[in-house]
Amino acid sequence: MSAMTRSAAPNNIPTSKMAEYYSRRAKHGVGLIITESTATSSTADGFPNAPRIITDGQITGWKKVTDAVHKDGGIIFCQLNHCGRISHTDYTDGQQPVSATDQRARGINKRNNQPYSKPKRLSQLELKDVINEFRTAANKCMLAGFDGVELHMAHGYLLDQFLDSRVNDRNDEYGGAIEGRCRFPLELASVILEELGENKVMVRISPSRWMGGVYDWPDLDEMLEYLLPNLDKIGLRMLDISCANANYFDTSGRIIRKARPLWPHLLLGGASLSKDDAQNEVNQGLVDLVTYGRLLISNPDLVQKFRAHSTLDEYHPNMLDRLE
Ligand SMILES: Cc1cc2nc3c(=O)[nH]c(=O)nc-3n(C[C@H](O)[C@H](O)[C@H](O)COP(=O)(O)O)c2cc1C
Repeated sequence: MSAMTRSAAPNNIPTSKMAEYYSRRAKHGVGLIITESTATSSTADGFPNAPRIITDGQITGWKKVTDAVHKDGGIIFCQLNHCGRISHTDYTDGQQPVSATDQRARGINKRNNQPYSKPKRLSQLELKDVINEFRTAANKCMLAGFDGVELHMAHGYLLDQFLDSRVNDRNDEYGGAIEGRCRFPLELASVILEELGENKVMVRISPSRWMGGVYDWPDLDEMLEYLLPNLDKIGLRMLDISCANANYFDTSGRIIRKARPLWPHLLLGGASLSKDDAQNEVNQGLVDLVTYGRLLISNPDLVQKFRAHSTLDEYHPNMLDRLE
């Protein structure tokens, strides 16, 4: 199950209803669950009622979720995220969002119909604070009973703001050429890997994704050829290639074909694939695990339906109104 923000955590505290929602998927046979985006600090948040993992209350709330999932035989990773400039002061307890840049993101934040807040460019000293927040959050995930964490480097959030040459306009060693733009995400991942070990850390990237059209990193091949071997070098062993809500074969399916020769370790990918397409991707050795998002909202029993060759219930966005 891929990460899906549900905005059902009042005061940023995971609820019993969330425990039921996740454990229902585990009970029906989902092997690995990645939680919704979870903020590592108040400035990292970017959504209404999204969970965080900072306070004791938030850890206790998550513990209810992980206990329920484990009781039903599942494995659950927490997606740790910093939204960076894809945020608004409404969601950061009034603090100015931060980014690789001080340029405001274009467009309107769909959550509150406001323009995104103008971000503050992170200083090098503040980059260390962000890493420490992730490190603390990762350790709190262990206290909360998670089996691991997924570091969100995808979909235009903070770590992707560093990777993406259209956003990262820094002229220090954390910007410029590919090596500079990859430096901060790699430093951060390296610290979390040292802290938790290779079996507990996954990274999600989206070199090609939907942004009102299919959008690729401008220097796609060079980025993959630098970033993937360097993720390998720092000890990462699990990589999730996402496309946000785009057609798989136009986006992440295409990237996975470029990434596989560069990535000999566990590779995850998918986006609403039919059972046959998913099986083909696995049989060809392109991915090791196929991820499902929306179909797991409309079909908590997706695994059983696949096994029984049953018809699937179609996803509709109004299903997001209720957490079931
Ligand atoms: C309602 C919703 C919320 C999402 N929230 C997140 C998120 O918090 N983090 C993330 O990495 N991806 C998020 N995604 C993207 C999904 O993880 C997934 O990559 C995408 O939906 C494509 O897969 P699918 O076609 O199987 O749904 C979200 C998608 C949806 C539909």
